[in-house]
Amino acid sequence: MERQWSVDATQAMSYAIRRTRGCLEPANPDLADVVGIDNRRSLIIVDSAVTHLYGDRIRGYFGNYSAPYTVLPIETGEVGKNADTVGRIVREFDKFGLSRRRDAVVAVGGGVLTDLVGFAASIYRRGVPYVRVPTTLLGMVDAAVGVKTGINFNGRKNRLGTYFPATHTLIDPDFLATLPARQIANGMAEIMKMALVKDQALFEVIHREWVSANSFAADATVSGPVIDAAITAILAELEPNLWEDDLQRLPDFGHTFSPAFELAATPMLFHGEAVAIDMAVSCLIAHHRALIDEESLTRILALMARIGLPLTHPCLNQDLLAAGLADSTRHRDGRQNIPLLTKIGTAIFAQDIRVEELVDAAHALHPLHVRLGRG
Ligand SMILES: NC(=O)c1ccc[n+]([C@@H]2O[C@H](COP(=O)([O-])OP(=O)(O)OC[C@H]3O[C@@H](n4cnc5c(N)ncnc54)[C@H](O)[C@@H]3O)[C@@H](O)[C@H]2O)c1
Repeated sequence: MERQWSVDATQAMSYAIRRTRGCLEPANPDLADVVGIDNRRSLIIVDSAVTHLYGDRIRGYFGNYSAPYTVLPIETGEVGKNADTVGRIVREFDKFGLSRRRDAVVAVGGGVLTDLVGFAASIYRRGVPYVRVPTTLLGMVDAAVGVKTGINFNGRKNRLGTYFPATHTLIDPDFLATLPARQIANGMAEIMKMALVKDQALFEVIHREWVSANSFAADATVSGPVIDAAITAILAELEPNLWEDDLQRLPDFGHTFSPAFELAATPMLFHGEAVAIDMAVSCLIAHHRALIDEESLTRILALMARIGLPLTHPCLNQDLLAAGLADSTRHRDGRQNIPLLTKIGTAIFAQDIRVEELVDAAHALHPLHVRLGRG
């Protein structure tokens, strides 16, 4: 070697998450404030189903300000979470004449939409700021809270992605009023995830207060504290490890085997449903290993079933489970790092789970799934 240069720099990352109610009410200043409406043109990219439900109110809200805005509906869905849709969004950035810093990109929709727009924003001119307004429960407590963006590629979940948080995320549980019950349960899976690995008190609140998806959406005295606790729990895990330098992550609970069967399952599974099945398998393994007792296992599975989450799926076979385990182990740099509960609210990381153990657990879940009323 004749000469070498080294460069050392640290990248600061800061972003804010604000919870409000009624963010599309003209009198509510939160959305205008986080977007900086007064001084910016806004390109508002909205999930097409959400445009159908809230498009007039979004236009009404932005129309109250003098700065120009464009509402762009985008068809989403897990199959559309791909490079083609990112290409379309980026072409719309060009058409809008998006500047690097001065204009606002606002993503309004579920986790698919915020992951897509976040990814597009992160690569456009090597990064333009954006704001997220999640409209699904899953988006409010997970997808729109962290720093990860992503799209599916080569048949793999989130195979391409970046670490690029929105400058602001505005959480408004009023959007839950129009969300179908199955989608509420879908979001509850990610809330259960954080409760199970980190927050026993949150588990007890859900256990005590859960009546139905509809009442959860309608009753702010229940949904508000549950959503707040779930966000607090996940941020406490994400903040010290934003770039995932440490690959032992509690938020990976439920995310080890599920990526392998989430896209493959017919009848199809939502993201949170696949996560729920993975959590159920993991809980059964923890029980087989005498890490959690029978009573805890039954309480967890019964609550998941009561919420309306599946505990298993006909597609779960040895090949898919083995593929999921292998791919997650590669993703975690050769270590399994699989969170297993030692009690409700506490977990350790396993490194020695065998495929046969997985298959046994998946088989044992079938009768439980039927007995608990999900069959
Ligand atoms: N970036 C992350 O850290 C992260 C974390 C968890 C999940 N995710 C991703 O999130 C995605 C799942 O997100 P999701 O569950 O929100 O799914 P989604 O975005 O597909 O939304 C679910 C459905 O609800 C509809 N919808 C959205 N808001 C609505 C409303 N208020 N009323 C009525 N209908 C509404 C949508 O049109 C869609 O049909 C997955 O792709 C997953 O990989 C990302």
